[in-house]
Amino acid sequence: MNRSLWQHQAGVPGVIRESPIPSQISDENIVVKVHAWAMNPADAVVQDIPLPFIKYPLILGQDIAGTIESVGSIAGTKFQPGDRIVGLALGAVVAKPEQGAFQDYVILDYNLACKIPDTLSFTDASVFPLCIATAAQGLFSKEYLSLSFPSTTTGPNSMGKSILIWGGSSGVGSNAIQLCKAAGFEVITTCSSRNAKYVKDLGADIVFDYTDKNVIDQVVAELDKSECIGIFQAAGEPGPSCQVAYKSKQTLRVAATNPVTEDVVPEGVEAKMIFASGGAVIYYETNLATFAGYLPEALAKGTYKVAPVPEVVPTKGVEGIQEALDILKKGVSAKKLVTLAK
Ligand SMILES: NC(=O)c1ccc[n+]([C@@H]2O[C@H](COP(=O)([O-])OP(=O)(O)OC[C@H]3O[C@@H](n4cnc5c(N)ncnc54)[C@H](OP(=O)(O)O)[C@@H]3O)[C@@H](O)[C@H]2O)c1
Repeated sequence: MNRSLWQHQAGVPGVIRESPIPSQISDENIVVKVHAWAMNPADAVVQDIPLPFIKYPLILGQDIAGTIESVGSIAGTKFQPGDRIVGLALGAVVAKPEQGAFQDYVILDYNLACKIPDTLSFTDASVFPLCIATAAQGLFSKEYLSLSFPSTTTGPNSMGKSILIWGGSSGVGSNAIQLCKAAGFEVITTCSSRNAKYVKDLGADIVFDYTDKNVIDQVVAELDKSECIGIFQAAGEPGPSCQVAYKSKQTLRVAATNPVTEDVVPEGVEAKMIFASGGAVIYYETNLATFAGYLPEALAKGTYKVAPVPEVVPTKGVEGIQEALDILKKGVSAKKLVTLAK
């Protein structure tokens, strides 16, 4: 049997229900037996707050690593049963509330999964999917910063331009730093001072403490030393990124992970939130940076770092997911909460 964590309404804990393991899938889908689930802030938000575009009941969760059980006919051109993979479950985002990640067997779109090398554990692999997909959207989609794609052969800082990543120690920021380095950009980033070494180890060139009262002026002075390609606000509210864009002598677009409200966008600044309103298809545009290109190559070469670092909760199985969500709700710093399957 398949055990799933159902969310019947906002504001209550999830409830475990059993159903048969999925056997009827579309040509482009795969069924994955999960070995590790990772938690994202959106899982905690949708569990607690009734958002207008979310319908309950649904199965929460987006990030999984596991082994393939079965493949649809088109998916079979890329995968076969037994493959070790990492993938992004979209569930409610694609109006399939039963296809969320928090269950033993998950149906995935084969475009949003890739094989992982034997050297990479399921625990480590589970931390990437939503963070890298979101970072890739903001950085490479024509809708946002429209940078050229990363590759495993791009030389360091070969573009001769910088990018500002606000919140580099977050999950999204940790992946954005690595993608930008692999795309040839110099990375200027912000985080708490305790995470300065962490972001430098991921490739960041210049780091500022976002809690410093002069941080905006410091960042502007640094990025105006040379050509800057834009601002990716990976974590926190977008106000500071918009202020940097406003004060810089360059014209800088802001791509933000969090809602951009009119009151934080000064006149003349273009800022836009990344929003998966188009469903799975919005991620296809940037797949060359993620599941269908750079990511599997970089993982195979060992050049992509597991980030943020996983922290595994004690309770295994679907029962351990609520435990991980409850810890996430208290806040994390440069780490990803992970639950392992039994
Ligand atoms: N729009 C989308 O499609 C989408 C998708 C995924 C995530 N998101 C959103 O993106 C944000 C980041 O997600 P995540 O999974 O990466 O979160 P996360 O890793 O759980 O976020 C925690 C990190 O955020 C950093 N942070 C918090 N406030 C900050 C601020 N004001 N300035 C700079 N850094 C700050 C913290 O840095 P320090 O510990 O160094 O202080 C911490 O490391 C969340 O708000 C999430 O809801 C949006």
